[in-house]
Amino acid sequence: MEKVPGSVGVVDANIEHMIRMSILHLIQLGTKHGVFKALSREPTRREALYSIGLPNKKLLLAFLSTLEGIGIVEEKNGRLALDSFSYKLDIPKEHYEALLPGWVAILEEIYRMVDYAFITPTHPHVLMDFDKDADFWDIRMNTDFAGLYRKAIIKAAEIKKGASVLDLGCGSVSPYEFGKAVGYTGFYMGVDYSPSILDIAKARVEGENLPVELRELDVRLLRPINEYDAVVISYLLEYVKPEDYGRVLFRALETLKPGGVMVLLEPFRDRFRHVEALEFFERLNSDFKRFPAMGEVREHLESEDFEISIEELGRSMLRVYKLP
Ligand SMILES: C[S@@+](CC[C@H](N)C(=O)[O-])C[C@H]1O[C@@H](n2cnc3c(N)ncnc32)[C@H](O)[C@@H]1O
Repeated sequence: MEKVPGSVGVVDANIEHMIRMSILHLIQLGTKHGVFKALSREPTRREALYSIGLPNKKLLLAFLSTLEGIGIVEEKNGRLALDSFSYKLDIPKEHYEALLPGWVAILEEIYRMVDYAFITPTHPHVLMDFDKDADFWDIRMNTDFAGLYRKAIIKAAEIKKGASVLDLGCGSVSPYEFGKAVGYTGFYMGVDYSPSILDIAKARVEGENLPVELRELDVRLLRPINEYDAVVISYLLEYVKPEDYGRVLFRALETLKPGGVMVLLEPFRDRFRHVEALEFFERLNSDFKRFPAMGEVREHLESEDFEISIEELGRSMLRVYKLP
């Protein structure tokens, strides 16, 4: 595995480890809240929901489905049974070197929020809303891991001084970092639907005199005005319904200059086994849908009427060239 900054292999290794850690957190939650004890009696789903004393039944149902998804629980003749789950925590030696500490504390924070979300999804200790909890998201987007994947994006999208970049679902940190990468002679346009996230982004670029423009807009309503050398879509599609992928990807390709590059970054569900474990925690944000599959994103891209070439740069990254 390439260990230089900007390596997709290192991004993949960290995502893989986040999933492992999420599985351990799920086991902790199931034990702590008496879910495994209740399941040992092989209840129906309904009996399980009412015998486990957690008020937020919707989240409990999602928890049970997650346990099923990763193979801890199996439904047999309408009853839920523990499926003698055995899990080997196998971390290849080279992964230890690649692991970044920053995301661990964030995942721990989210794990702690689940206890409150099991009471009610609107509990004040659940801090996953983009607008209301923009500060938490800002911390999350500022970790070493986010810094690493942004370096990987800059490298893959060939973002250089003077380039023009469109970033969909830009968040609060990328505008500053990509703005610096394009420099004073370039142009960066960040689009995000959260006004609070954009306020933080603005405060970060202010005073730097960077050529950064920010627009408050739902990416599903994007209308191409300019053409860009690069389009970035990072950790966005998981908040978009799969039936809207086509529209967003079409607009993104339309806005790309011939010869331009689009980079998509996601923990693609068909590339990371047990990604459902991480999804359980991400779902505390009510806008979260599910991680996209690389296969379905490729299908959408290939079905559009554009001359493109697609490369899988790793398990979490797709690069699309619009042919000149
Ligand atoms: C997990 S953050 C990722 C931010 C940034 N791309 C990064 O990788 O650091 C997702 C961002 O997408 C924005 N977002 C989600 N759905 C959106 C939509 N339909 N239109 C515009 N922005 C959206 C959120 O407000 C949030 O800032």
